[in-house]
Amino acid sequence: MASIPEIFQSMEYGPAPESAGPVQEWLGRHNREFGLFIGGRWTELGSETFETLNPATAKPLAILTQASSADIERAVAAARKAQPQWWALGGHGRARYLYAIARQVQKHSRFFAVLESLDNGKPIRESRDIDVPLVARHFYHHAGWAQLMEQDLPEREPVGVIGQIIPWNFPLLMLAWKIAPALAMGNTIVLKPAEFTSLTALRFAELCEEIGLPSGVVNILTGDGRAGEALVKHPGVDKIAFTGSTEVGRLIRQATAGSGKKLSLELGGKSPFVVFGDSDLDSVVEGVVDAIWFNQGQVCCAGSRILVQEGSQERLVSKLKARMETLRVGDPLDKAVDMGAIIAPVQLEKIQQLVRRGEDEGATLWQPSWSCPRDGWFFPPTLFTEVSQAATIAQVEIFGPVVVLMTFRTPAEAVELANNTRYGLAASVWTENINLALDVAPQLKAGTIWINCTNVFDAASGFGGYRESGFGREGGREGLREYVKWVGSGAAGRRGRRANARSGGESVRAKAARSRQATASNRLSRGPAAPLPAIDRTPKLYIGGKQVRPDSGYSIPVLDRAGKRLGEVGQGNRKDIRNAVEAAHKAAGWGRATAHARAQVLYYLAENLAARAEEFAARLEAFGGAGENEVALTIERMYTYAAWADKYDGAVHHTPYRNVTLAMPEPIGVLGVVAPPEWPLLGFVSAVLPGVALGNTVVAVPSAVAPLAATDLYQVL
Ligand code: NAI
Repeated sequence: MASIPEIFQSMEYGPAPESAGPVQEWLGRHNREFGLFIGGRWTELGSETFETLNPATAKPLAILTQASSADIERAVAAARKAQPQWWALGGHGRARYLYAIARQVQKHSRFFAVLESLDNGKPIRESRDIDVPLVARHFYHHAGWAQLMEQDLPEREPVGVIGQIIPWNFPLLMLAWKIAPALAMGNTIVLKPAEFTSLTALRFAELCEEIGLPSGVVNILTGDGRAGEALVKHPGVDKIAFTGSTEVGRLIRQATAGSGKKLSLELGGKSPFVVFGDSDLDSVVEGVVDAIWFNQGQVCCAGSRILVQEGSQERLVSKLKARMETLRVGDPLDKAVDMGAIIAPVQLEKIQQLVRRGEDEGATLWQPSWSCPRDGWFFPPTLFTEVSQAATIAQVEIFGPVVVLMTFRTPAEAVELANNTRYGLAASVWTENINLALDVAPQLKAGTIWINCTNVFDAASGFGGYRESGFGREGGREGLREYVKWVGSGAAGRRGRRANARSGGESVRAKAARSRQATASNRLSRGPAAPLPAIDRTPKLYIGGKQVRPDSGYSIPVLDRAGKRLGEVGQGNRKDIRNAVEAAHKAAGWGRATAHARAQVLYYLAENLAARAEEFAARLEAFGGAGENEVALTIERMYTYAAWADKYDGAVHHTPYRNVTLAMPEPIGVLGVVAPPEWPLLGFVSAVLPGVALGNTVVAVPSAVAPLAATDLYQVL
């Protein structure tokens, strides 16, 4: 092991591995075999199977089922059956479920991140800080749209059963982009993940079970393109939403043409990254890192074509090379790694082949001096200069960590070159001149234009392409249109209006408004149409007066006395403890408060607990305790500790001097307390409050078996 002075000399990174333990344990629990999730049930491993591999090691992770046409048939039937009730549940009911999904994703965020990095090869830094938080954000955002649908999207109805086919580059995020809006708008789903990366989708199916999502609302079927094709061609599917290659997009468009199926396609890209001479080149370099080395360049909107204004080219290239030299490629689970592995040998070969083609066509290749790991499928960050506009590598989507750099002279030329592509998914513009940015951006033919940033996504903003990058939008209000049909217009609406005109009846719009009003007043008198799931509550850690999520990103289940899952609590780790200890030290002022003031706070605590005594009693009974008694005893104890606060005096010692010796007690400082497993509330309060009463601050770990009484308690603090 290197000594500290050596580390200061070399400034080398040490390994910072994220543990794969919990994910490996989960795979082990499943015997590393998975069936399909149809109609709320899991099938056995199918007769035709395939392996999913870890791209960083080329080793198998699990065996999955290739869904057959018969499986697709059953899944579509299950989704069809579930759809009317799902729609009838109403916006608020659906919002509750979407909200619960978002919460559950957050509770298991680290698990999802690790699983995603293992299965896809992307660095944990990205899956942990970008993919999974965006997944949760998508479900939260669309819980909002479900809630608002009746007011904000009047005269719209769900399309019905949606077939969704997603790629391998952002497996869980693409699932969220597809599922969240579809569910919010009252549709039901048959989703096929990409064959290379199905594991997070399968874990997501379990999550749907955990939150009690009604059977058949989400069905997840694994398999390759054959399963996708069967889904596309199934007559019972009302809409296909696809993200993937332009070639397959074209096939799907042909297959659905004339079928009446609604279709949205999110396909490839060759996005320009336009750098004007006045831009801040250091920011530009970091922008390029995000544009093309994010997710190893396997990003449909990757900024893979740098167009730099003449004059800045040399400086940019030299800064880029210096930065590329410092990028780290390696184990995706290493927290200090910038780039992970390429998804599969077939993709690696495609990248290698296109890079060779680039060299053959006369472009200049540059790669950093270090070499990539050899265990899995890795490819170094690569820069091509002296590239002609017509070169293959300037036109074709490489879908790897390879960027080409070309130059332009004037803004008009920049626009022309940027638009010189079959695609139109995204673009970014770099300049310090706001007028120039505002002039150029609208002239670029792409669905998203970023200014002085790149690859920035959010659930509230629509994403999608022009031209061969596809059509339709995902995210934002515009994304909802893909999952609704307008019942106030079109043939049905017109027929309705004509019939109304003949019979002198009211307009469709008026009828819809009346029916909304009637539903609302019925609901007031009769309650909701269907039983709703409870609003998910996420007990968090309580540190420094704030509720915080555990650093680990893991949650652990809490069971009642019958073994039924009551909820989940965050699993604290050493960083949480460190933060709590720091916060406890910062709160040292508590010890300087007067004993009277401390007593007042404890009495107040007893008062608040008394006001919620019933709720606490019910909670304790679920764990098998004598709820009411325990709460009453706890309140009594609180009184005792409050009483002690100003009565724990020091002493006057009879020392053999002529003066007086006073012995003054003072708080110890920060106490670490582990509460006992029995008496979840009384035990916790009895362990924590004496120290608090006397001016200490406390870092407490509640009962491991029944922590919810303590996490409820922070709400009365
Ligand atoms: P792909 O388009 O073949 O696969 C995407 C999804 O479509 C997968 O779930 C696949 O099983 C499914 N699929 C394949 N054939 C189908 C068919 N005939 N009918 C219905 N579904 C079908 O993409 P692939 O082969 O994984 O990657 C090939 C190239 O596509 C990449 O090199 C890259 O250039 C591009 N690509 C673009 C993506 C994007 O986000 N725009 C994502 C993934 C790949």
